[in-house]
Amino acid sequence: MSDITVNFVSPNGTRTVTATAKEGDCLLTIAQINDQALEGTCEGQMACSTCHVIVDAADFDRLPEASEMEEDMLDLAAGARRTSRLACQITLTSELDGLTVRIPTESHNMQGV
Ligand code: FES
Repeated sequence: MSDITVNFVSPNGTRTVTATAKEGDCLLTIAQINDQALEGTCEGQMACSTCHVIVDAADFDRLPEASEMEEDMLDLAAGARRTSRLACQITLTSELDGLTVRIPTESHNMQGV
């Protein structure tokens, strides 16, 4: 199976980290492995929204639709916008190869990145 490429753009847009993932990997896990400032406090239980990412508008329609519960959590996420998603709810597949997401400025992180 070929690798899936994901691009993580820093909150101010100046830095992009290109990561590789495997089919079935969780986007949040890949972000954390690659030192992205996403807390993911609830570890995918859809109870925190600290894994909020902003999907590149060009890629947004490639993602499966968010569940109602995810939409509800996104309503609470700071700085959420139309193309926001919860990274813990995104399973990477070959259809998502080349996905670009931005880490929101408002993300609460401990590293001050
Ligand atoms: Fe908490 Fe995604 S890790 S909602």
